[in-house]
Amino acid sequence: MMPMSSGRFFTSRLVVSALLMLCFASPLGAQDKSQPWWRHAVFYEIYPRSFADSNNDGLGDLRGITSKLDYLHTLGVDAIWISPCYPSPQFDFGYDVADYENIDPMYGKLADFDVLAREAHKRGIRVIMDFVVNHTSHQHPWFLESKSSRNSPRRDWYIWRDGKGPGQPPNNWESSFGGSAWTLDPTTGQYYYHYFEVQQPDLNWRNPAVEEAMFDVTRFWHKHGVDGFRLDAVDLLYEDPDLKDNPVLPGKNEFGDPKMTNKYNDNLPQVHDELQRLRKVTDANGQVLIGETWTDNIDELKAYYGPHQDEIQLPMDFLFTTVDKRSAPGFRKQIGLAESSGGWPVFVISNHDIVRSYTRYGDGQNNDQIAKLMAGMYLTLRGTPILYYGEELGMENHDPVRKEDVKDPLGQQGWPEQKGRDGERTPMQWTSGANAGFTQGTPWLPVDPAYSTHNVAFESKDTDSILNFYRLLLAMRHRSPALLDGDYIPVDQDDPNILAYLRRSGKETILVALNFSSSSQPFDIGQATHGVSRAKSSVLLTTSSTDVTVKGDKHTILLSPYAVFIARITP
Ligand code: GLC
Repeated sequence: MMPMSSGRFFTSRLVVSALLMLCFASPLGAQDKSQPWWRHAVFYEIYPRSFADSNNDGLGDLRGITSKLDYLHTLGVDAIWISPCYPSPQFDFGYDVADYENIDPMYGKLADFDVLAREAHKRGIRVIMDFVVNHTSHQHPWFLESKSSRNSPRRDWYIWRDGKGPGQPPNNWESSFGGSAWTLDPTTGQYYYHYFEVQQPDLNWRNPAVEEAMFDVTRFWHKHGVDGFRLDAVDLLYEDPDLKDNPVLPGKNEFGDPKMTNKYNDNLPQVHDELQRLRKVTDANGQVLIGETWTDNIDELKAYYGPHQDEIQLPMDFLFTTVDKRSAPGFRKQIGLAESSGGWPVFVISNHDIVRSYTRYGDGQNNDQIAKLMAGMYLTLRGTPILYYGEELGMENHDPVRKEDVKDPLGQQGWPEQKGRDGERTPMQWTSGANAGFTQGTPWLPVDPAYSTHNVAFESKDTDSILNFYRLLLAMRHRSPALLDGDYIPVDQDDPNILAYLRRSGKETILVALNFSSSSQPFDIGQATHGVSRAKSSVLLTTSSTDVTVKGDKHTILLSPYAVFIARITP
């Protein structure tokens, strides 16, 4: 595409084409090299069951992932987070680990993992393992030993208690999959605690032997080239030792159980002490920590960075997912809160547990345009983005319609209120061919019918596709000191439709304006840039058919519905 003369842009009425990328080659020098790698990286979550199937058994595998590394590299991905691929009976699709130091045969062998890590590193892609720290599988040898007798040397590796009385669990804690969080083991006559499924007993982190065994897991994977861990359900590591009942709230939850706050089994202060100890171990091996940190408010989230930035480097901000629909004020507020925390943000927009953002934010008619809008925001904010596989194609949720088709235990137990997470875990869409090119066998979940137009091969050929928009955005982000390291400066805090902000580093200022409404909206660039000489500004990327009108002091662009507008402002 032709670079556009910046002067012309601001002195005449000018129609900008539907998708325009300009001036990417940054004349501004390199990014800030003193920053750790993960601040400049774009992460990509791979759900291995669903990404690429190399042996046509209908399930994705490690060789499949390796075969797609070039695709990820070209897309602009710097690190992959692989959801659990350890040996597991798969009651919660790998989040029930039976051996932390191996690979499930359905995904391949440890040697396949070594090849994957080596090939990823060759391409400058780092590898992050999902570390399921809170619980194991009920088939893990540790648990089998623990449950074998009250006197087992591993008894205290899990949380065992007597019931309150006949048929009564030790307290009122509930499993997040429904029902009591306690299950009676008939052999020893005691209950064990499981925040999640019956098949996922919680480890007892108060036992130093458990802590050491888990620290050893990080050392094991360091030897296999692993650059960091996503800590699964890390807020749940500790429980109140007196097992006090949780406060009950009015009403019922989606499983028909009483609502309650998890006051005594979630976010306990000891979690933070533990993270500081873990961080020392992972720091020694140069591994980064990402946290699955569900929190109720920004202060709780802030605590996960640690009092001296000595806990999790990248705690995920799930509060971001609470923003309702396409709301400029909603996102402005949430971004502002994260910025006020003083930490390095990790906004969450999609993952394997939440409805895909394409479906959450789409209006049914302009979904592709809205997907670009969300990407335009997500990839220009300060912080480390984590893309969920297929997000770059505009993959949508494809939920089961009948209970008997549901694979996710959460959906099986919570149907129909809770449909489970199958919808966001459908196979990656590679081609317009059979099964979207994911497998030549029968895919474990049905492919979303929209694959015929939303797939890698098809979208690669269409310059206006969501995929090519992501490629442009990612290329721009990687070359822009302001987008990588710059401050976030909100513009016009009151606009109900347009979310606008500057990203400013010592070297560069970028203006981002995002029209969250379904109608065209005027946007005054002059006001946004506080009088910076407009003659030297240049558009980097826009999806808008944009007229620029100069009237006196006002230099107004008309942002088309759901438009993304990104420009570099040169003082
Ligand atoms: C985390 C995972 C989720 C899993 C749960 C239990 O929340 O993201 O998929 O079901 O932990 O391990």
